[in-house]
Amino acid sequence: MKRIGILTAGGDTPALNAAIHGAVVRANQLKVEVYGLIKGFNCLFNPRVPHVHLNPLFQEIPELDPTKGGTLIGSSRDYVDPAKKDDLDLVTERLTRLGIEGLIAVGGDGTLNGLQPLTERIPTVLAPKTIDNDLGLNYPSEPDEWVRHKGTGGANDRYTRSASSAVFDLDHIVNYVTPGYATAVLVTAQGVERIRTTAESHRRIAIIEVMGRHSGYIALGTAYGQPDIILVPEHPLDIGLLVERVRHLYDLQKNVVIVCGEGIVDAQGAELGAESTSTDPAGNVALSGAAEALRAKMIQTLGDGYFRTYRRGSSAREAIFTRKVGHTQRGGRPILFDRFYAALLGSKAVDLLVEGRNNAVSILQYSSGKGFHVEGYDANRFRDRWGLIHARQMHPSLYDPVLMKPSTTGIDYLLPIFTGAIGYDDAEHMRHTLFDSGNLSHPYHSINTDVHKRIRYLEADHA
Ligand code: F6P
Repeated sequence: MKRIGILTAGGDTPALNAAIHGAVVRANQLKVEVYGLIKGFNCLFNPRVPHVHLNPLFQEIPELDPTKGGTLIGSSRDYVDPAKKDDLDLVTERLTRLGIEGLIAVGGDGTLNGLQPLTERIPTVLAPKTIDNDLGLNYPSEPDEWVRHKGTGGANDRYTRSASSAVFDLDHIVNYVTPGYATAVLVTAQGVERIRTTAESHRRIAIIEVMGRHSGYIALGTAYGQPDIILVPEHPLDIGLLVERVRHLYDLQKNVVIVCGEGIVDAQGAELGAESTSTDPAGNVALSGAAEALRAKMIQTLGDGYFRTYRRGSSAREAIFTRKVGHTQRGGRPILFDRFYAALLGSKAVDLLVEGRNNAVSILQYSSGKGFHVEGYDANRFRDRWGLIHARQMHPSLYDPVLMKPSTTGIDYLLPIFTGAIGYDDAEHMRHTLFDSGNLSHPYHSINTDVHKRIRYLEADHA
């Protein structure tokens, strides 16, 4: 293989540049050229196919900095529609004209689904990334548990899970953790620590909403910030139990900090935050307002009387406040754990392509005996009987629904990821850069400005 393409798709995560870096370093060793495709699959819908040669003379370009968040080649949520054969033909033809013999997509479950039709036309592999940590399987047979309920037209099909008889074992998780997750948890845990002092000082109840769509991993990991209560989408909300616990804690310590995943559901399985029914281009429902919906329920259940009686505020509305951590948990410098393993996964993706493992995924495995290591896994094994790849939900046993905290298995799950996840340089970096006097006078220099000067187009290359 002489030349490969690489693209980053879906929402940005902190370790994308590190994954690209790992791929380029490995490609340099194998003397393979790497072209970075600008803005994910969007690049291939553009007749000019904007791209950047990431390793001229088999040296990586200086703009490729694995310690920087975001992605120097840009990302989008555009995918190739498998039903549009003409689009597929066009995209394949453009890649071929560019001399691309294999493609690496760095992305999550949406990207893996999106690239399936392409793998029948050009060798393609995936290097995983997602802060949601939802690309993977709790155990290898998990895809077989999905049941499809036919709707009118394929788009309206519904999928539910049948009862599982599989034994859950941390050592058997497929893709234990995805790059981006650890850095996101760093931000959410720090957010909890900071909100706590306000809640404590002002005798308030804080509800902090974290990302993760329908998977509760980010909420679970936020336990490192020591919130009092964590709510995850995998366990329906029991408002009675929650309010009882809040009363107990508030009586004792006069403040409560609750973390809720954005995808939490009520007893009927309805998403609390799905007030907006809009969808992004990948078809994901845009979730908004789980924390606000929860606050409304708590205000109604606790009532103003509770706060007045204790002279800790004049109303429930005043006492209970919400904060979304939002996109700060997706951006910025990746911490050591994410950088290191994203680079290994990017490097492994190159090996998979060169070895001819079409439609494979480089995965990060963990076992108590071996620790973390990378492997290749056939994407087909992620697919259900109808060919769909579902986002992984956290295994319910990682959470204790009575304590509303990670269970002992949950703690065992988190420890290998986070023990030592922050490098010394991560702490030093802040000391050296944040209050640099130059920041006050120098305008921000965007990576896009430099990369733009390196962008080449299909016509020019082949004129
Ligand atoms: O999938 C990553 C993620 O950050 C989710 O946790 C979140 O729901 C979503 O993307 C937000 O997407 P956007 O940036 O498009 O609003």
